[in-house]
Amino acid sequence: MNNLKNLRGTVDLLPDQLIKWQNVEKIILEQLSRSSIKEIRTPILEMTELFIRGIGEETDVVSKEMYTFMDRGKRSCTLRPEGTASVARALIQNGISSNTLQKLWYMGPMFRYERPQAGRQRQFHQLGVEFIGYESVRSDVEIITLAWDILGKLGIKELNLEINTLGDINDRLNFQKSFIKWLEINKNSLDLDSQRRINKNPLRILDSKNSQTKKVLENAPKLFDFLSDKSHKRYTDLKKQLEFLKIPFVENFNLVRGLDYYTHTAFEFTSGNLGSQSTVCGGGRYDNLIKQMGGPNTQAIGFAIGLERLILISGKELAVPRNTDIYIINQGLIAESLAMDLSRKLRNYDLLVELDLSGDSFSKQFKKANKLKSKSIIVIGDNEAANNEFTIRLFDKESFGNKEEVISLENDIKLENWLNNNLLLR
Ligand code: HAM
Repeated sequence: MNNLKNLRGTVDLLPDQLIKWQNVEKIILEQLSRSSIKEIRTPILEMTELFIRGIGEETDVVSKEMYTFMDRGKRSCTLRPEGTASVARALIQNGISSNTLQKLWYMGPMFRYERPQAGRQRQFHQLGVEFIGYESVRSDVEIITLAWDILGKLGIKELNLEINTLGDINDRLNFQKSFIKWLEINKNSLDLDSQRRINKNPLRILDSKNSQTKKVLENAPKLFDFLSDKSHKRYTDLKKQLEFLKIPFVENFNLVRGLDYYTHTAFEFTSGNLGSQSTVCGGGRYDNLIKQMGGPNTQAIGFAIGLERLILISGKELAVPRNTDIYIINQGLIAESLAMDLSRKLRNYDLLVELDLSGDSFSKQFKKANKLKSKSIIVIGDNEAANNEFTIRLFDKESFGNKEEVISLENDIKLENWLNNNLLLR
């Protein structure tokens, strides 16, 4: 048994940790529903081809990080490293038309074979949002605002929003030509990783973390100078609208993102509280992806939030479990059946009800209720069972004893009044 452990880069989430996850997810889902964004669920396992074509063969994600294997039917399968390509595939496969407008979200595990560290795992979770069929710059603003509001609702401070534009395909090709020329000339001053990327994925050199390379790049041609007037105007409009909404941002011309499908707007939210893996949310526009994957010409934009990183920076108050409302102390054959029945009735009032199943003595059961800090207790023993009733009392110090009531198991009105006065409407 000794060597049966979880795989490196994966974690077990235990009940106490999951309280925070569930509270965070609840707040996120409420905000998504208020923004009328609908859920989509796609398979975790996809054909490898999807990610090669969707994300780009030369990206780190595809070339180094995918969990890929042959299944028993000799098909190459991959555990999804992200959700955007799958959403695009699902829409194309289910008959997307050229005038589709859909706002979608998904949440779930993703897999990347990266070096594990704080905030970086091999199985991690994302909340993703994709606006499909939206072209105007206002959809870029709405998507950035949505991410900002979700992070804001979770009380996250020290957030920085960085934005950039990658232009359209033509802008990029024009830039790439002169950039590659410049890189060839300056090749020896670049780090080895960047040298390797010159012909494979030159744009990624722009976000190299190597300090020497960064310094050299200061003199490189800038993508920004290759933008068409239209792309330039689009970016200026984006900035104006963000300013209007008072969403603070900084421009980062080296922000290129790690996936090949991006066009025009690219953005990331980082947090000073996260250490080296500081990006909590990344996204951007991907106007060519759906067409390139065989669908109609459909513009789109989206983002994904890394939930592990989000949990690390969201407040402690979200980790507090919900209090037990009623602890049912019960003993005796008939009493135990009645208690079971009553617990089900009480849960219909959206109360957190704990039914003691131990058969322990009353005093032991009292102690457990006390330890749990249950707001109230119900007692059903042989005497109560014989009279078809139960005793209910508030369990806090001030009212202890005073708020006790004996209620017939058939008197739902009296029960409801007691709950309203003491637990529900307080
Ligand atoms: P991404 O930047 O690759 O974008 O990932 C988004 C977020 O997922 C990151 O900012 C980070 O918080 C989290 N993340 C990524 N890798 C890991 C990891 N190994 N461990 C923990 N967290 C991680 C995408 O995935 C795009 N699909 C986003 C998108 C949607 N763009 C348009 N639509």
